Amino acid sequence: MPSQALPGFRDFYPDEFLLRAHIFRVWREVAARYGFEEYDGPPLEPLELYTAKSGPEIAGQLYGFVDKGGREVSLRPEMTPTLARMVAARANGLRKPIRWFSVPQLFRYERHQRGRLREHFQLNCDLIGEPGPEGDAELIALAVDIMRAFGLTERDVRVRVSDRRVLNALLLGGGVTEAQLPAAYAAVDKLERSRREELTAQLAAGGIDAAAADGVFETAAIRGAPALAAALEGVPGGAEAGAPLRRTLAALDAMGLGGFVDVDLTIVRGLAYYTGTVFELFDASRTLRAICGGGRYDNLLLSLGGVDLPALGFGMGDVVLGELLKERGLVPSGTASIDVFVAAITGDDVPHVLALAHELRDAGLRTEYALNLQAVGKQLKLADARNARIAVVIGPDDRARGEVMVKDLAAKQQRAVPRAAVVAELQTGIDTRPGT
Ligand code: HAM
Repeated sequence: MPSQALPGFRDFYPDEFLLRAHIFRVWREVAARYGFEEYDGPPLEPLELYTAKSGPEIAGQLYGFVDKGGREVSLRPEMTPTLARMVAARANGLRKPIRWFSVPQLFRYERHQRGRLREHFQLNCDLIGEPGPEGDAELIALAVDIMRAFGLTERDVRVRVSDRRVLNALLLGGGVTEAQLPAAYAAVDKLERSRREELTAQLAAGGIDAAAADGVFETAAIRGAPALAAALEGVPGGAEAGAPLRRTLAALDAMGLGGFVDVDLTIVRGLAYYTGTVFELFDASRTLRAICGGGRYDNLLLSLGGVDLPALGFGMGDVVLGELLKERGLVPSGTASIDVFVAAITGDDVPHVLALAHELRDAGLRTEYALNLQAVGKQLKLADARNARIAVVIGPDDRARGEVMVKDLAAKQQRAVPRAAVVAELQTGIDTRPGT
């Protein structure tokens, strides 16, 4: 038997599961605050859903196979095509804009490295049916507010924003042709990870000469809204192309979130379907990979489902986010714990332990008892190991008086309590909110 999970797959022992549960809880809470509803789709989809639209990077990482019915299928590497298919199928009956979120587990056969695994969970938030730039601001604000809900500030996380409409205007204005745009995008996307000579060679292979290549690098180097506005003034259609991003940034400023946002034209996103705003969230020191990425994809629903609806959204993975939270000490502390441990002194007390434990559980208290009779000392050791706050000891003498012994394990105090009153007393005495 293999003793380990497959490379790039994780076991979640209970201690590790705590962080995952915390991440999911915050994701769901903040998405709900923005009026998003949760949905899900199948983890296995027809292969062509991804080969058609996601672009070559994801197509090369698919967990694809032929099923027993001879169908070409794949585990889902991303959620967006499933969402587009689902919305397109019911588009007429859904009130727009549609605000939906999901927390799927996704599978990509990636080279296993820090921050990149072969499975991850990804919060997806998408807004469908809203063409205006205030929608883009809403989505970015949601991503930022999730960061804030984890305790991260603008000194910890940065949102790097660009817009493919802007990039197109600048690249075309700089001498790149429409047909060469994909090659130019690929080079900009790799700018931070590759040497310039390599990229120049790659651009040349795509038909982009040295002068136009310099233009590509200059465009990608643009930082900040004023520099962008100046660059757009010099190209045809620049002002028009820049207008949506300007409004998005103004809306984020109005919300008080502008301090999180950097205009950065190196962000293009690897996926093929984006048409407008694109953005990624990174840790401020950039030692980790992207926490979140998304953008506007106004043509995907039309091409996948024949329904012409503008759309935008983002995906936020649990892996890099979890690393950042650990690095910043923002992981909730707490080993699993229970509220009450019920112990028996003799075999005759065991049915009374079962009855009381059951009443305590019905009252909402996390309760445990020894499943086989042991010495009381041993039972209390187990209570300690479980971080129980209270132990209730049931013995023949107390029982004869209609009482049980309640021990406060932290305060190291004990007192006799009437059996008839003990459930209500413990229920009011113990705060059962999670995390307390
Ligand atoms: P993506 O950039 O491929 O976008 O993934 C979004 C985020 O998921 C990344 O920033 C990263 O945190 C996480 N992620 C992706 N791949 C891995 C991996 N192999 N291991 C760990 N984490 C990973 C999308 O998937 C788009 N479909 C997002 C979207 C939704 N766009 C519009 N709506």
